[in-house]
Amino acid sequence: MEFTPKILALVCTYCTYTAADMAGSARMQYPATVRIIKYLCTGRIDIIHILKAFEAGADAVMVSGCEAGSCHFLEGNLRARERVEYAQKLLEEIGLGGRLEMFEVAASDAPKWVAAVKEKTQRVETLGPSPLRRGKHLHPDVVEQLENMVQS
Ligand code: FES
Repeated sequence: MEFTPKILALVCTYCTYTAADMAGSARMQYPATVRIIKYLCTGRIDIIHILKAFEAGADAVMVSGCEAGSCHFLEGNLRARERVEYAQKLLEEIGLGGRLEMFEVAASDAPKWVAAVKEKTQRVETLGPSPLRRGKHLHPDVVEQLENMVQS
């Protein structure tokens, strides 16, 4: 059966989101495997959000924020990196290793965003579907729960 990965990207609005928006406006070609969830800063991403993304059926999760030294909240991206590293260990333990990764994409770097999505998609294609995946699509109710967590 053909496998089309579903990736949830938890991104910072100042940098990665702007780059992704620019990539879309410039009609850069990249796989339609990613759904973006926008944060004010990656420092607001909690481990529970990452776990929720997997519960929604994501085959992989990307966390992407400002480059080192460029976070608008000074150290938000550093806190995010610590949480991602901790979550990676947890995921390894429960059989979801290799599915979570952190990226840094500056607002002006749409090509880097495109490359990150392609790279992540290829890696997930190799891993195959998440054992938590339910059907072809992300679970809309769980994605909505995650979006509500982001806004609260
Ligand atoms: Fe972008 Fe903090 S403002 S990671």
